[in-house]
Formats: sequence, structure tokens, C-alpha cells
Amino acid sequence: MRRPSLRMVAIIVGATFAVLGAGAFLVAASGIYNVAASRPHFEITRVLLQFGLERSVATHSWLESSSKPALDDPDLIRLGAGHFVRGCAFCHGAPGEPRNLAAEHMQPTPPALSLAVTEWSNEELFWIVKHGLKYTGMPGWPSIERDDEVWAVVAFLRQLPNMSPAQYRELANGSAHTSDDEPIAECTRCHGGENAAPTSRLVPKLAGQSAAYLLHALEDYARDRRPSGIMQLLAVPLAAKDRQALAAYYANLKPQASQQKAADAARIERGRRIATEGIREETIPPCLACHSGRAAETFPRLSGQHAPYLAQQLRLFKEGLRAETPQGAIMTAIATRLDEAQISDVAAYFESRDPAEDARDTTPVQGAAQ
Ligand code: HEC
Ligand code: HEC
Ligand code: HEC
Repeated sequence: MRRPSLRMVAIIVGATFAVLGAGAFLVAASGIYNVAASRPHFEITRVLLQFGLERSVATHSWLESSSKPALDDPDLIRLGAGHFVRGCAFCHGAPGEPRNLAAEHMQPTPPALSLAVTEWSNEELFWIVKHGLKYTGMPGWPSIERDDEVWAVVAFLRQLPNMSPAQYRELANGSAHTSDDEPIAECTRCHGGENAAPTSRLVPKLAGQSAAYLLHALEDYARDRRPSGIMQLLAVPLAAKDRQALAAYYANLKPQASQQKAADAARIERGRRIATEGIREETIPPCLACHSGRAAETFPRLSGQHAPYLAQQLRLFKEGLRAETPQGAIMTAIATRLDEAQISDVAAYFESRDPAEDARDTTPVQGAAQ
């Protein structure tokens, strides 16, 4: 018998695919396949889909590179918990809290995560939370540039398997006592309030910041000019008058000095020099020219602010993520000239500086190098 030619094989393979494709088209076009979420998948479909999903996550999480922070950092865990309350619990439920009734009727149903997370590696969880899962209803992170925020959620997910309902409530609601039906309760969970500091040093202190700056920041989040999957989720639905009221609430609170044990003195001193004198040869201006009591109303105060928050924002400026507003562009140009060591020095200095000094500060700034 003659061996089939290569051309013959190609024609047979091509024809088979054409027939299969036409068959698939006919099945789809006829509407016979039932997409109702009210009934589960056939077992074979479910197994195949699950297999495909697990392989896809394994491959793509391996291809993705993102520098992983220490996931046992309590500040990271608390920030992730605060976000989980609004961003995830609706669908997945939380310790002691069932998922929403509507989510209960999704297909696939979002699983309770205490058990589910144990089956994935850190990198896989990161990838799922960042990109979401197509065709399941699992959404991707609202601002794809913010890997640092996604890692905070992963840090929290890692703690979930051993978390009691009481521990969850403490992490999720913070220690500020506000009545739940006031709009401010949504903010004090993370930012603290009259007598309570923020729950995490990655969450900024807002007390005593000018109302003009706070409002400007909330508008930047709401209008997608300052990417943050955590804050945008909360700021977008706020009515303009609520943004004003919330900004006024925090502007009226007394700024709090840092309770943090001071970082080493040499670092603070190096930071102080940058803040008061700048670095002329690197055209870095003195920070206090724009960040003390003398500065414009819409410029933020930094004294007493958490160092990890300040350092992270300086990195975001450097990456160009806060460059979209005229105000943000000013700071971006400065932050791009700071290296990582200068960032941590100047952040340590501002955290150690008493906010009361901003008001007292009337000495002219030395050596302004613009
Ligand atoms: C709109 C509902 C919805 C929201 C909101 C949501 N998820 Fe999901 N999630 C899902 C669905 C649906 C799946 C897919 C389940 C499946 O394939 O079996 C899923 C899957 C997952 C998985 C994989 C679990 C597994 O083993 O299958 C993780 C982890 C996860 N979500 C974490 C989160 C986190 C963290 C958040 C918040 C940042 C979040 N989800 C927000 C619906 C949601
Ligand atoms: C889940 C915790 C969480 C909740 C709840 C929360 N915030 Fe935030 N907030 C943050 C984090 C984290 C940032 C820093 C985000 C970034 O990187 O831009 C922030 C930043 C801000 C800023 C900018 C501050 C600055 O110095 O630039 C303002 C203003 C603000 N939040 C107001 C609010 C208001 C008002 C509410 C209530 C509606 C609220 N936040 C609720 C975590 C939270
Ligand atoms: C020419 C004025 C100017 C100088 C000098 C300046 N900044 Fe800024 N800075 C700003 C403005 C304006 C903003 C607000 C940007 C915005 O609204 O997005 C800002 C914001 C910041 C923020 C974010 C604060 C927050 O709450 O999110 C940090 C951190 C910061 N500056 C650090 C520094 C440091 C460190 C220096 C010195 C190396 C410095 N700045 C010098 C104008 C200045």
C-alpha cells in the first residue's frame, strides 16, 4: 500500500477540524447548551474547567515577576484585612460571616477562602487576586499597577485558615468607636478617628491634614488620577458633599505625634538635612519649603506621618503613578531624584518630627536649590 502523502494528511487533519468547528458552531447557534447559573455544570465539564483553571494559574503565576514583601508583617496583614471587608467578603464570606445571598447563587459559587487558600502558593494567590479568573465572576484588582496592595491581601489570606470570628472582627473594624450607620465608620476602620490611630502604618494619618488637601486626594481617587485599588473602591461611590464632610471631619482632629520608637539617630539626622537643606548637587530642594506650616493649603503635612506610608508614596511618585495632576507632577519631579536610602532617611525624619513644629516653623529655609 502506498504511504499517504504529507499533503493527504494535512487535508484529512484540516477537514476533521473543519467538521468539529462546524459542529461546535451548530451547537452554539442552536442554543441547546444551557448557560443557566441555576444548575451546576455536568461533572465532566466541571472537572475539565477546574483542571484548565489550575494549570493556567500555575503557568501564569510562574511567568509573572513581582518582588514579594515579608508576608508576616502585621501592617500588611491589617491593611489586607481592611480591604477584604469591602472588596471580597460580599462574595466569599469571612470568619463568622456568610457570603451575600446573591453570591450564593453564582455559578461557580465563590468558595469560603479559609480552606481554599491552603491549596495555592503565595505566588498563585497573588496572581489570582491581581488578575481575577475569567468566566467565573472573580474580578481582577481595580488598579493593576499596585502590586504592593495585592500583596497586602495575600498576607491577610495567609492568616485566614487559623482566624477566629473575633480576631477577624478586630482586624476588620479597627479600634475606633463610631456608630456603624455614620458614613465616617467606613473610614475610621482603617484611618482611626478622634482617639484612635490608623490600624496599620501603611495607612496614612489624616488627622490635622488640611481639608483642602484631603478633598483634593479624595477627588484624585474618585476621578482615577491616583491609582489605589483600596481607596478608589471607597472614594468612587462617595457623593461630593460626603467627600467634603469627611475631609472636614479629619481636618478638625488634632494631629498626632508618632508613638513609634525613633529610628536610629544617624538616619534621622541624614533625613533632617534633606528636609531642611535639600541636596544642592542633586538639585533636590528642601522638603520643608513645601511641607511645613508655611506651605500652600493644598500641600500635605508630613510631620508625624508613618514612615512606611511616606516611603511607599515616594516610590509611587518615582514610578510616575501620582503624576497626573499638576500638584502630583511637582512632587514627581523631586521624588525621581531620591534614591532608596534617601527615601528611608527622609521618611524616618518626618515620622519623628512633632507635628506641632510645622506651626512653629517660621525660620526661612536654607539653601533652597530649585
Ligand atoms: C463578585 C464576586 C467575587 C468577588 C468580589 C471576589 N471574588 Fe474571589 N472568586 C469568585 C469566584 C466566582 C471564584 C471562582 C471559584 C471557582 O472557580 O470555583 C473566585 C475565586 C477566588 C480564589 C480561588 C479560590 C479557589 O480555590 O477556587 C481566591 C483565592 C479568591 N477568589 C480571592 C478573592 C479575594 C482576595 C477577593 C477580594 C480582593 C475576591 N476573591 C473577590 C468571586 C468573587
Ligand atoms: C481598607 C482601609 C481603608 C479604608 C476603609 C479607608 N482608607 Fe483611606 N487610605 C487607605 C490607604 C491604604 C491609603 C493610601 C492609598 C494610596 O497608596 O494612595 C489611603 C489614603 C487616603 C487618603 C489620602 C491621604 C494622603 O495623605 O494623601 C485620604 C484623603 C483617605 N484615604 C480618606 C479616606 C476616607 C474619607 C475614607 C472613608 C470613606 C477612607 N479613606 C477609608 C486605607 C483606607
Ligand atoms: C516644590 C514643592 C515641594 C517640595 C520642595 C517637596 N514636595 Fe513633597 N509634595 C508636594 C506636593 C504639591 C505634594 C502633593 C502631591 C499630590 O497632591 O499628589 C507633595 C506630596 C508629598 C508626599 C505624599 C504625602 C501624602 O500624604 O501622600 C510625600 C511623601 C512627599 N511629598 C515627600 C517630600 C519629600 C521627602 C521632599 C523633599 C525631598 C518633598 N516632598 C519636597 C510639593 C513639594
